[in-house]
This record gives sequence, C-alpha cells and structure tokens, in this order.
Amino acid sequence: MALATKKYIETHQDRFLDELMDFLRIPSVSTSKEYATEVHKAAAFVKQKLSEAGADKAMLIDTQGYPLVYAEKTVDASLPTVLVYGHYDVQPADPYELWETPPFEPVVRENKIYARGASDDKGQVYLHIKALETMLATQQLPCNIKFLIEGEEESGSEGLTRFLENQKNVALLQSDAVLVSDTTLLSLEQPSLTIGLRGIIYLEIEVTGPNRDLHSGVYGGAVGNPINILCQMIAALQDEHHRITIPGFYDRVAVLPEQDRQALAKIPFVLSDYQNALGIKAVAGEHGYSTLERTGIRPALDINGIWGGHVGEGGKTVLPSKAHAKLSMRLVPHQEAREIVTQFTKYFTALAPKGITVEIRVVHGNSNAVVVNADSVALQAAIKAFEEVWARTPLLTKDGGSIPIISQFKEVLDRDIVLMGFGLDSDAIHSPNEHFGVANFFKGIDTVIAFYKYFTSLHA
Ligand code: BES
Ligand code: MN
Ligand code: MN
Repeated sequence: MALATKKYIETHQDRFLDELMDFLRIPSVSTSKEYATEVHKAAAFVKQKLSEAGADKAMLIDTQGYPLVYAEKTVDASLPTVLVYGHYDVQPADPYELWETPPFEPVVRENKIYARGASDDKGQVYLHIKALETMLATQQLPCNIKFLIEGEEESGSEGLTRFLENQKNVALLQSDAVLVSDTTLLSLEQPSLTIGLRGIIYLEIEVTGPNRDLHSGVYGGAVGNPINILCQMIAALQDEHHRITIPGFYDRVAVLPEQDRQALAKIPFVLSDYQNALGIKAVAGEHGYSTLERTGIRPALDINGIWGGHVGEGGKTVLPSKAHAKLSMRLVPHQEAREIVTQFTKYFTALAPKGITVEIRVVHGNSNAVVVNADSVALQAAIKAFEEVWARTPLLTKDGGSIPIISQFKEVLDRDIVLMGFGLDSDAIHSPNEHFGVANFFKGIDTVIAFYKYFTSLHA
C-alpha cells in the first residue's frame, strides 16, 4: 500500500472509529415501524458521510419503503466502475437484558466494537466509506465508484426490488462489478471470500380451530387444539434423517460434484470448537453431510418463532383458537423460491386436519441462492487484494446466510459479484452482544483499497 495511504489511515483512525460509533448509535431497525424516524436518520447519516468523503453526488432516493442512499465518484469515464452495495438498517436488538452494554450505546472492549449492527452491516458499510475518503484524500482512487446502501435488507428489500424494475434505475447502477461486504471470513489468520449464499423463503403461518379460546378442561380431548396441530404439521415437514418432506423440494437441488465436496472439506473446521462455541454437545442435520455442507450447500427449514394460547405468567387452562409460527427455508443453487412457496403451501395446507384453517403469508418469496463466478476478473482482483493485505491466499467458502437482493442483482445488472465480507461467524450478528473487530474494520479498509487497484489493472 502507498505510504501516503497508510499514513492517512493512521492519522485518522480514531476519528474513523468515532464516526462509526455515531452511526451505531442510530437504532435503525427496519423490521418494526416504531423505529421509522431512526431508520431515516441513518440514511441521512450515510449520505452525509459519503459526501464528506468526497463523492461527487450523494443523494437519497425515495422508495415505497426506506430510502436508498446513492453516491458516485467518477474519475474518468474510460475507467471501470465498481458498485458497492450494503445496508444501513439493522435487526431488532431484543432480548435487551442479554446485552452486556446497551445495543445502541457502542463501546470498544478487547478491541471489538459492541453494538447492534457493528458487524451486520454498519461496520462493513462504514469501512467502505472510509476507504473512499482515504483514496480521495491521497489521490489514490484508481477507478469510478458508485454506492448503493439500502435500508430494508433485514426486512425484505421491497423498495430496492421495485426500484430495480425500472430500466432507468438499472442504467444508473451500471458498473463493471458489484462489491458487497456483508458476509463473514474464516478468521483473521485465514481470510476467505464467499462464493455462495443460500436463498431464503420466509413465511408466517396462522392456524385456526374453534372460533374462540376454550376452557381446556371443558373441551380438551374433544376439539382439535391449533397449537398441538401446528406442532404436528411442522414436525411432519422433516423426516428422521432431517430431510425436508415437501414433495418436489429437492428436485432441482444440484448433486454436488465430488471436487466441490473435497474443496469444502479443506476448509478448516473443528467440530468440538464449533460445539463449544455454541454450548451444544452435538450437532444435528441432514444425514450424510458435514456441518459445512449442511450450511453451505444443503437446504434447511427452521421455525423462527412459535406462539399462541397463554404465554404470560401463571397458568391459564386454555385451548386456543389460533396458533402462529414464523418459518424460514434456506435454498441452494437451482432451487426456485417461487416454486417452493407453491409446493410448501400446497403440502402444508393438506397436512391440516378437517376443520382447521391454515393461512400462509409470504414475507420473502423470491430470493434464490447466489453463486459467485470464481473465474471473474473481479474475484481474481479480490484474491490478490487479500494476498497483499493479509499475506495469505483467501479460501473460497459458501455461507449459509442470505442477502436477498443479490440474486436479483445478478439477473438485472448482469455483473460479476464479489462477496468480500470482513465479519466473523463469532460476531453474534442478529444476537445479543453483536460486535465487530477493530482489526477487521481497518484490514477491511486496506483490502478494499487494494481491491480497486487490482480490479482496475486487471480489467484493462
Ligand atoms: N448479512 C446478512 C447475511 C449473511 C450473514 C450472509 C453472514 C453470510 C454470512 C444479512 O444481513 C442477513 O441477515 N440476511 C437475512 C435475510 C432475511 C432477513 C431476509 C438472513 O440471512 O436471514
Ligand atoms: Mn447484512
Ligand atoms: Mn442481517
């Protein structure tokens, strides 16, 4: 890295972190209306920081949901353009009592920044903004950059999805590669680049039996209990080998070539460490697959929440009228989210006994898995950037999480994607005590800067 660049970052490192802390103080939870003002504040913050960093243009673009932050810096139209995507919204922070320090009062402990969104995705978005500032301040920006930072990633990217339906907007986002830092790498010792993400389907289910809550003594045993029934229906979705029983569910799942399984087997993974970190004595999943295969290349079905009847203090003998669940499915390459929503609906409805009604609301229904082109110039540039900054060749991994808009980017923008995440699996994203390593933040800046350099020279 150029000496001037290094010096600039060193000189300004405390300010970089202070600004990130300001960003983290804004509770931009996009999943509940209650925080709407704060989500807008976070958008304004990102716009402001992009313009202070030196973008030519930085603006908010209204959508039917939360605004998109768009910015660009054009160096020379003949040079390549990189589009940076990320999100300024965060997940809810509850349960609050499990946080050692409050989720929206960021602190640095043991060289990690603790706050909701520290790793997912504010810390990772912010390192891109500081990389831009650094490159502009030191005259090192080798190519053109566009930023697109959305505020609804954690709640379905509705606004951005609609935005992409307009060809004019697609033209605005024209670029030579899309760069995203919203995933994890293996460790500070062994970096990695993500070449696969799972798709996601998210459903809310409501099962209704009797027209009102009933006394469970007067009616129990004689009237179908929606909670009992919902549990049975959910249990029927997987067999004893943890295979999903929805007819047709696996039809399009690609049989993994042996060389891909071998590549996955080379990723450092210690089962006992994994179990200890989670406080579990055994893992569970589809028979015949390793843990990394289960999260990387096999689909999954999980209940994310289930409720109904009496859940307050004390006992109330009730046979409830309704039962509810939230359910997610993770999809792998070639599975079609829309098709699976249909298959699920048909099968699940048929599982209900007579007299029980089932309602299914599709929260996310069109996010397919993402496969990154490992041969692209962009990925080669990313590999070189890691080699330079981390002094190690990054391994290529498949992550189990989802970034719903990426599969749409692939279709609509038709550009190579680089998933250059700087988080760690242990960052506790979506959990209490989320954190992001200070080292991850600064190495992220260095790596991003190196990426632009290699991408520009390889692209020529
Ligand atoms: N950044 C994550 C996705 C992620 C995390 C990918 C770690 C790879 C490694 C993203 O913000 C996320 O949480 N996505 C949600 C999508 C959902 C809310 C529609 C997910 O995966 O559950
Ligand atoms: Mn994220
Ligand atoms: Mn997330």
